[in-house]
Amino acid sequence: MADLDDLREGRDFGLEVAAGNQGYHVKGAAHLPWGMKDRLSRIFNPKTGRTVMLAFDHGFIMGPTSGLERIDLNIIPLIQYADCLMCTRGILQSVIPPDTNKPVCLRSDAGTTILTELNDNVLIDIEDAIRLNVSAMAVMLSIGDPDFEAKTIANLYKAVDLGSRYGIPVMGVTAVGKQMVRDARYFGLASRICAENGANIVKTYYCEGFEKVAAACPVPVVIAGGKKLPEKEALELCYKAVNDGASGVDMGRNVFQSASPAAMIQAIHAVVHDGLNPEQGYGLFNDLLNSD
Ligand code: 5RP
Repeated sequence: MADLDDLREGRDFGLEVAAGNQGYHVKGAAHLPWGMKDRLSRIFNPKTGRTVMLAFDHGFIMGPTSGLERIDLNIIPLIQYADCLMCTRGILQSVIPPDTNKPVCLRSDAGTTILTELNDNVLIDIEDAIRLNVSAMAVMLSIGDPDFEAKTIANLYKAVDLGSRYGIPVMGVTAVGKQMVRDARYFGLASRICAENGANIVKTYYCEGFEKVAAACPVPVVIAGGKKLPEKEALELCYKAVNDGASGVDMGRNVFQSASPAAMIQAIHAVVHDGLNPEQGYGLFNDLLNSD
């Protein structure tokens, strides 16, 4: 049991020293076996070390939310621009064409509509994840929630054990309960707990002081977009996140609820991989929108 009486908050994050990658482009993965590295290389572009994941798993707790009413019409045209798809197995096997040949980060736990964002103690059967040839399994953690923290950490632990056995990386997704403060202290705690319990990727939110969250997390951090923002603000969010140490984004609503989802995902891709600043990214968005 850790002695929490004299818990001293971290202060020296070595922000002036870039994290070494030990010869492999994915942070913290240099010592993993071949299968893990192969899957991570499908998610994180070996040239940039970054990823643009397209998240459309929202229906598992939100139902047919705006922009996801018809995955076949809304999402399939965007797949070509995404580095990785994040969805549930139900949507994957019923709607996504198997010849898209994109890596899949599979939502591997379950949620409820009563307590949205909090999952129950449910985990996909690893054999199903293997059958679906997924490149990663995503599991949610509810750090700081008295009812769900222990259950969700146990779920992550189990997913990591199973994933390690078969070479499938696990992404820890930090859920934010209504009572949590969305700051660097909380996201830093939740992200580090994911990594300490074996997650190979962490998905969290951007916040002020995010550079400390990313620096103190020994595996790649990708950011969720959250609620729909004006396009330029969403591109600023992506730009700040990757410049503050994120290895990419795992975005949903800011793409599929955009005035032009195809233009938006291409602009995000250019900011994340090609170093466009928000103004340039927004210019590209408008050019693509007008050429539609
Ligand atoms: C919910 C998720 C979602 O996939 C995630 O929040 C990304 O979507 P958005 O950018 O719309 O927030 O993991 O737990």
